[in-house]
Amino acid sequence: MESAKTKLQGREWRKDQYLISTDSSLVPIAKLIDIFNSEGFYWSKALPAPAMQEMLDNSLCFGLYEQAEPIGPSNATPELKFLGIARLVTDYITFAYLTDVWVEPSCQGNGLGSWMVRCIDEVLETMPHLRRCLLFTGDWQRSVPFYDKLLRAKLVETRKGEGLAIMERKGRGHPTFNKEGTGYN
Ligand SMILES: CC(C)(COP(=O)(O)OP(=O)(O)OC[C@H]1O[C@@H](n2cnc3c(N)ncnc32)[C@H](O)[C@@H]1OP(=O)(O)O)[C@@H](O)C(=O)NCCC(=O)NCCS
Repeated sequence: MESAKTKLQGREWRKDQYLISTDSSLVPIAKLIDIFNSEGFYWSKALPAPAMQEMLDNSLCFGLYEQAEPIGPSNATPELKFLGIARLVTDYITFAYLTDVWVEPSCQGNGLGSWMVRCIDEVLETMPHLRRCLLFTGDWQRSVPFYDKLLRAKLVETRKGEGLAIMERKGRGHPTFNKEGTGYN
C-alpha cells in the first residue's frame, strides 16, 4: 500500500501559469539559500546546501513556481521559476508544524500566498489521524488573521493552569538562541 508520505509528496495544484508542487526535488537549493539569507526571511539563516537539501527531503514542501511557455521544440520541458515555499515538518500521520512560508517579494499581494496556504489546508484535511498543526509567528497584525482565515488556526492563549501549555526549547538555529524571551527580537 502506498504510504501517506509517498502520496502527499506527489501532490500538485495548477492555476493559470502557476504550479504548487510537493515534490522537494524541484526546489532550487542555491536560490533557496539566497532566500533564507534575505532580509524578509528574518526567522532563519541559510544552512549548508546538504543540510538544506535534507531539511527539504524530510519535510512536506509546497513549492510555488511560475511555469514559462517552452521555447523551441514543443516537447521541451517547460522551465519553472521558483516563486515561493511553505513547509510542513510532519510525521505524515499525527502532527505537522508549518514553517518557512514565503512568497517572492515582487509577487506578494496577488493571492499566491493565500493559494499556497489553502493547498496546505486541503492536505491537512486529507490526514485522518492528524492531531494538530502548529505554527509560530511574530507578525500578530498580518499573519495571525491570515492563518486564522485560511487555515482556521486559532491562537492558543496560555494562562497558567488553564488550557494547554505550549512549551518551547530554542535550538542553535533560532535567531535568539541563548537569549531570554520567546520572540525573534
Ligand atoms: C505572508 C506571505 C507568504 C503572503 O503571501 P502573498 O502572496 O503576499 O499573500 P496574498 O497575496 O495571498 O495575501 C496577502 C495577505 O497576506 C497577509 N499577510 C500575512 N502575513 C504577511 C506578511 N508577513 N507580509 C505581507 N502580508 C502578509 C496580508 O495581510 C494579506 O491579507 P489580506 O488578503 O487579508 O489583505 C508573503 O507576504 C511573504 O512571503 N511575506 C514575507 C515572509 C513572511 O512574513 N512569511 C510569514 C511568516 S509567518
